[in-house]
Amino acid sequence: MAVHQVHEYDVLVIGAGGAGLRAAVEAAAADVRVGVVCKSLLGKAHTVMAEGGVAAALSNMDERDNWQVHFADTMRGGQYLNNSRMAELHAQEAPARVRELEAWGALFDRTPDGRILQRNFGGHAYPRLAHVGDRTGLEMIRTLQDHGIHAGLDVHMEVTVTRLLKDGQRVAGAFAYDRERGRFLVFQAGAVVLATGGIGRSYRVTSNSWEYAGDGHSLAYQAGAELMDMEFLQFHPTGMVWPPSVRGILVTEGVRGEGGVLRNSEGRRFMFDDIPEAYRPQTADSEEEGWRYTQGDKNARRPPELLTRDHVARMILREVREGRGSPHGGVFLDIAWIKGRVRDGAGHIRRKLPGMYHQFKELAELDITEESMEIGPTTHYAMGGVRVDADTQMSSIPGLFAAGECAAGLHGANRLGGNSLSDLLVFGQRAGKCAAEFACAQGESYVPDDQVRQAEADALTPFKRKASDSGENAFQIQSDLQDLMQDKVGIIRSPDLLAEAIEEIVTLKRRAAAVAVTGNREYNPGWHTALDLENLLTVSEAVTRAALERRESRGAHTRDDYPGKDSDWGTVNLVITKGEDGAMRLRRERVPPLRGDLKAIIEEIG
Ligand code: FUM
Repeated sequence: MAVHQVHEYDVLVIGAGGAGLRAAVEAAAADVRVGVVCKSLLGKAHTVMAEGGVAAALSNMDERDNWQVHFADTMRGGQYLNNSRMAELHAQEAPARVRELEAWGALFDRTPDGRILQRNFGGHAYPRLAHVGDRTGLEMIRTLQDHGIHAGLDVHMEVTVTRLLKDGQRVAGAFAYDRERGRFLVFQAGAVVLATGGIGRSYRVTSNSWEYAGDGHSLAYQAGAELMDMEFLQFHPTGMVWPPSVRGILVTEGVRGEGGVLRNSEGRRFMFDDIPEAYRPQTADSEEEGWRYTQGDKNARRPPELLTRDHVARMILREVREGRGSPHGGVFLDIAWIKGRVRDGAGHIRRKLPGMYHQFKELAELDITEESMEIGPTTHYAMGGVRVDADTQMSSIPGLFAAGECAAGLHGANRLGGNSLSDLLVFGQRAGKCAAEFACAQGESYVPDDQVRQAEADALTPFKRKASDSGENAFQIQSDLQDLMQDKVGIIRSPDLLAEAIEEIVTLKRRAAAVAVTGNREYNPGWHTALDLENLLTVSEAVTRAALERRESRGAHTRDDYPGKDSDWGTVNLVITKGEDGAMRLRRERVPPLRGDLKAIIEEIG
């Protein structure tokens, strides 16, 4: 066996976005040794793509807001498949986590009297999103990063974990390689926190950057943990569609929160066409009322553009499919129209949405204060992930924790915008604390040599094959998978296409098992892509199998053969595990029953 760099920690955090950093900061505060592994550079995380704000019932803009309303909104948005204990903890603890971040130096936008400013977002009853213009995630990462460095975290950048290591049933560490030199690293750890984010790179059009290949989901699954709710994948309604090189880049929901409206090619606000029954009482039926709502009129009802993301994405797709889309296959998002309504209109838009202004100016040569943006749905967020205990965030594997996007439970069938940032603060903190406690209580773990040897052999296998021996190209397989998922496992799903997709994933797995890599281990993107394929294929299979199994439409999962909700499915989570024979297994589990007091909150708030 080659000699590897070995690092020993009490807590190893895999992923350095908001959840990973928050977990690491909390574990370090418990005075244990903390290592953080990030696939790319520190600070480069999908957290920055949550631009418009962090949801917390601070009640700065509307005194009617409180944790109970936030809880009820989150449950309704998730169509009651959420883990209600997680939704409760999240709503209760988010305000304290936001204020704590402010104390650590985050510079939120302010009300005239100096409180944190909050804006409207889809599905939230009141203006609830604390924000920093349209760069909230970035400011949060900056703050957590600064805080983490001072807490003495040991950070390993450009390191990719390929296997979790186990000591009996308990997690014992991880095996990884560094991108630059291709050297292997062994991390021995008393507890491991997965905070690797999402799975967006399994689709062609996504707001996720190259790192998001479902690493944490797949590592956990391969190690024997359970995945849950994988059929629920959020297509954010507004991604850029033009030019092609930037397709999928996020256009924040903050644009709609600030009064932006959606129009089709006929100039009509099509969102008024179809308002779901559950939201009808809270939704404006005139343009004027919707506008007043965005400007803080407490008696007005919210515009239909601020319905939940699953609904808005479906409505956009309908316009495009029925021939009322924009020239490049999207619809129009217009914020320029508010110029006539506010003082210094163009300046106002630039101040509220500086990131969007520059993004469109630089990438699309378009001035959003003058013209409408062309936008369309983009794969953004996985509601499904590693199944965890609500209070501790520990998975079914002792010592293995998960937080943020790679964990399941909080969001149910659909996440509300802004709840991702509060999720990662609340549950990152809990995961870090509980991981440190676990490591201290259980003591050191032992990493078996045979697992390290196997992980090394697996990582080097692609070099053993030659392209000339008909070894496959990793980029081609990845590209074929992205097309497949985009075309057959998208917003509207049909059983025939899902069944075909499963067959094709099986074929892609066979092709991936024959992938060949040339060159050496130093900075070799072909090799890195080859190693990502296992993760991409695992999460794609999980999404597709779960989507075929759930015979109803709910939240972000829409079936053309079962267009409505089914009450039997309304209490079922789909849980996925790896069988002894290596095959993927799905089982139905009842959603944990709502406690009486939480049920009463939902009944009262509606
Ligand atoms: O639209 C946005 O700013 C995204 C926010 C989120 O995904 O939570």
